[in-house]
Amino acid sequence: MVFKIVVLVHILSSLAIAASQDLNFIYSGFRSTNLSLDGLAQLTSNGLLRLTNETRQQTGHAFYPNPVTFKNSIDGSAFTFSSTFVFAIRPGYATLGGHGMAFVIAPTRGLPGSLPSQHLGLFNGSNNGNQTNHVVAVELDTIRSVDFNDLDDNHVGIDINGIESVRDASAGYYSQLNGKLTNLTLISGQRMQVWIEYDGMEKQLNVTIAPIDVDKPSRPLLSLPRDLSPYLNSNMYIGFSSSTGSAFSSHYVLGWSFKMNGQAEALDISRLPKLPRLGPKKTSKFLTIGLPVLCLSLFFVAVSSVSYGIRRRRKFAEVLEDWELDFGPQRFKYKDLYIATKGFGDKELLGSGGFGRVYKDPQTTHVVGTLGYLAPEHARTGKATTSTDVFAFGAFLLEVASGRRPIQPAEDVILVDWVFARWLGGEILEARDPNLGTEKAKHAPGSAVLRGGDIPLPDISLLRLPKSDLPFSRFDDFAMSYPSSMGKSFSHTSVSESLLSGGR
Ligand SMILES: *[C@@H]1O[C@H](CO)[C@@H](O)[C@H](O)[C@H]1NC(C)=O
Ligand SMILES: *[C@@H]1O[C@H](CO)[C@@H](O)[C@H](O)[C@H]1NC(C)=O
Ligand SMILES: *[C@@H]1O[C@H](CO)[C@@H](O)[C@H](O)[C@H]1NC(C)=O
Ligand SMILES: *[C@@H]1O[C@H](CO)[C@@H](O)[C@H](O)[C@H]1NC(C)=O
Ligand SMILES: *[C@@H]1O[C@H](CO)[C@@H](O)[C@H](O)[C@H]1NC(C)=O
Ligand SMILES: *[C@@H]1O[C@H](CO)[C@@H](O)[C@H](O)[C@H]1NC(C)=O
Repeated sequence: MVFKIVVLVHILSSLAIAASQDLNFIYSGFRSTNLSLDGLAQLTSNGLLRLTNETRQQTGHAFYPNPVTFKNSIDGSAFTFSSTFVFAIRPGYATLGGHGMAFVIAPTRGLPGSLPSQHLGLFNGSNNGNQTNHVVAVELDTIRSVDFNDLDDNHVGIDINGIESVRDASAGYYSQLNGKLTNLTLISGQRMQVWIEYDGMEKQLNVTIAPIDVDKPSRPLLSLPRDLSPYLNSNMYIGFSSSTGSAFSSHYVLGWSFKMNGQAEALDISRLPKLPRLGPKKTSKFLTIGLPVLCLSLFFVAVSSVSYGIRRRRKFAEVLEDWELDFGPQRFKYKDLYIATKGFGDKELLGSGGFGRVYKDPQTTHVVGTLGYLAPEHARTGKATTSTDVFAFGAFLLEVASGRRPIQPAEDVILVDWVFARWLGGEILEARDPNLGTEKAKHAPGSAVLRGGDIPLPDISLLRLPKSDLPFSRFDDFAMSYPSSMGKSFSHTSVSESLLSGGR
């Protein structure tokens, strides 16, 4: 009786101890998770566990930091446990990645002394297969190692104390609908889920794998009927191991749950961290093509506008003569003339000749161009040539001498007509600028001419104009009919020359 009570107490207490030590955790991402990492393993900023990166011949380990009780301390039997995790393997090259990863139950946290490459960071050449290892692992192997009798380069295996699997199968899952085996590609980069379940009563280890969007298949890919008790120590560490070789992959774990003496909590897929984007960023065509083209276009528009602006400025640039500084600008803007004559186009041309070109103002029907004599050439270069000097003479007379605008807006008088009328009437001096005669004006070019007969006036009769006929069109006609002779005779008078040289 006493014996029975002692046994009962013992059983109850051991059950209580087991229950109190039952580990149960779930990680939906590993942000601020206390994991023991070594090698290449790291937690990314968004909570991914990245076991390896693209560094060759390296290992990476991530372990739950605390030891886990796996065996009943009374009879030494391994407990029932279950674990599930979501992983993704991004290979270094589209069809070649290495070497793989494994869920591992080990006596130490970091598997010190283990090798990369085909050893998957689990074993090394001297301890591989040794019963003293006490390592149980489920490998996701992406390289076929002939030395270890690997099935292929895309398999799932159960490893006990050595890298040569005691059970293996090509990656795949049995469909719930028809029971058919569907292949999976481990290095597809796609998220997949693994379930590892050990039944301590049945003494059976099952491994199941499925795509992320497929519910756990009821039929496991691997089923190993074996008591794990001899292989496991009472206290073990659980975690992941991974390695790279000449070929490499980034091995990611997105979420992980584990439960001792029960079924691991299901992972909420929607709460898992996002994997890095696959391949080059899928930026919109607007960003990759549209934006650069737009920027380039804007740049060219800007450059064209600036250069157009500069050319336009140069085109319409005016060179102020020294004397103009005293008397104020006595000229039309070349720009205005240019616009009024439509770029000195032939359509608005009334006449041309030694006097230069005369235009009609398309809006007012009056002559704009009377003094548009400042031929484009002159305006551009600021220099008189034989083709511009004739009109330059006119300019000095009518912009300078009269002190009047070519067309007086108030009186609607065309200056040329008006001056000619004065000339023919023998009272050309009436047309002079009232300012002339002041001290300041004495230094102005042309002042000598008009100061009162110092130089005899040119004979207007040279023009052979009928006195009565003075509408402006006649002037044009005249200019048309005496193109060169007039220009020459006028332009080479001492008067014009003195004027021109004096103006510069
Ligand atoms: C790989 O990870 C290790 C450890 O985090 C780091 O030191 C190394 O720079 C990484 N290499 C690359 C290529 O990302
Ligand atoms: C992580 O776990 C280890 C082992 O239990 C412990 O020593 C360490 O203090 C923990 N670190 C943090 C930040 O909690
Ligand atoms: C192999 O691994 C074991 C256990 O991790 C270690 O004690 C041993 O030193 C390693 N051997 C070599 C040759 O690295
Ligand atoms: C297994 O490992 C133990 C301890 O490390 C060692 O004493 C033994 O010789 C190894 N056995 C073999 C077959 O290598
Ligand atoms: C699945 O994979 C196995 C092993 O690689 C192969 O023999 C089989 O043809 C594959 N089945 C399909 C449907 O691809
Ligand atoms: C393992 O799989 C077998 C066969 O499908 C099944 O009978 C058994 O219940 C499973 N055990 C566990 C622990 O899932």
